[in-house]
Amino acid sequence: IEEWNIEYADGQDYQSLKRAAEEIVNTDTPVAFPTETVYGLGADATRSSAVKAIFAAKGRPSDNPLIVHIHSLPQLRALLSGKDASLTGSDPIPAIYRPLIERFWPGPLTIILPVPENTVLAPEVTAGLTTFGARMPRSILALSLLRLCGRPLAGPSANASTRPSPTAAEHVYDDLQGRIRTIVDGGPCEVGVESTVVDGLSSPPSILRPGGVTVEQLRQCPGWENVTVGYKDKQEGGASKPRAPGMKYRHYSPKAEVILFEAGATRPEREEVMKKSKVGIIRTKSWDAALGLASADSNVADTNGCVNGTSQSNSASSIPTDAPSRLSNLLRSVIQHQTPHAQRHTLSSSDSEIWDIDLGAETDEVARGLFSALRELDKKGVEVIFVEGIDDTTGDDIAAAVMNRLRKAAEIRT
Ligand code: TXA
Ligand code: MG
Repeated sequence: IEEWNIEYADGQDYQSLKRAAEEIVNTDTPVAFPTETVYGLGADATRSSAVKAIFAAKGRPSDNPLIVHIHSLPQLRALLSGKDASLTGSDPIPAIYRPLIERFWPGPLTIILPVPENTVLAPEVTAGLTTFGARMPRSILALSLLRLCGRPLAGPSANASTRPSPTAAEHVYDDLQGRIRTIVDGGPCEVGVESTVVDGLSSPPSILRPGGVTVEQLRQCPGWENVTVGYKDKQEGGASKPRAPGMKYRHYSPKAEVILFEAGATRPEREEVMKKSKVGIIRTKSWDAALGLASADSNVADTNGCVNGTSQSNSASSIPTDAPSRLSNLLRSVIQHQTPHAQRHTLSSSDSEIWDIDLGAETDEVARGLFSALRELDKKGVEVIFVEGIDDTTGDDIAAAVMNRLRKAAEIRT
């Protein structure tokens, strides 16, 4: 990756990216860019005024630290060495992280590192902590942008604070239009949930946020066999009840109320669904049978130009043409991921309108389509979204990340 360059990009894409990089370097307005996980909102991590503008655009509380994105190990080493460090001597990257970097970078992993004395990072990035999170994304567009900027980029997810993270350019547009000028559009994101955040400075090392790299994968690395789970999202009382209102903060939230059914929980009865006039359903495995949606009751009315469950990407269509910085086909075509759309159903002898999204049975597909599904159902104006959870006890996939986000989305706001 250190020798990597972007010479293959065609003229128009290259010019668009260059313009985005210049905006980051020359102004304080952050620029949204795609990564393999979710879209990020990037600003020069060494300039306070630029970093402050990220918090302002998102409406993010200033005590929540940002991840620093880098494109190479030399760039990270320079960051760890501070302003006046000589680059001789031992590697400033803590040894515990070496196997992780080798295996997972570039990719969906964020590592917690010590802030050096005389750091070049703006204090707003770390929110006053003595550590910072660093990540080398694997999206070609993200790496290209980082390379063109030539400086580390502070980048939280590019959603408005409390909303689901953006996994397509139009999600960013919906949340941040009027607050930023440029979105680099790379199509739908490959992973769909954020990076795994790990702390190897503590002993034993711990996972602070589940994400695109799994616990199982981490445990295979030397020094990480006993990694602990440092986040809490399990509900007391087990999986038998739906996740209920009553907890204290809001995150990953659509406007509609989210009711999460843990894997194995009893699904809602038809009667419960029919109490509401506009209902969203996010399915992952076999819920249709329980509700009767696919049986004789089902009356699929494709009113909204929506295609079927396997669907097309809607990423190209809903941003106005005067929206900023669109990338042309070459880079977009590197990876095109599809996410399923909602289908409309009605139940016989009921006025309820049901918008149903089937995310499929594969965990990777569920992760990729989840945030997009929550946002799409919001746009349909549903009052409540019933979500069929997936099993996160097997430890060998990114189900833990999916369920962590869903449990937060289902917590009620005060
Ligand atoms: O996949 C991702 O990580 C995306 C893309 C854009 O790279 N970014 C992202 O950033 O999710 P954000 O700001 O939405 O989430 C950053 C997470 C937060 O949970 C924050 O508390 C944690 O990382 N974090 C950042 N610095 C930290 C530190 N020094 N110690 C502990 N946690 C930290
Ligand atoms: Mg976020």
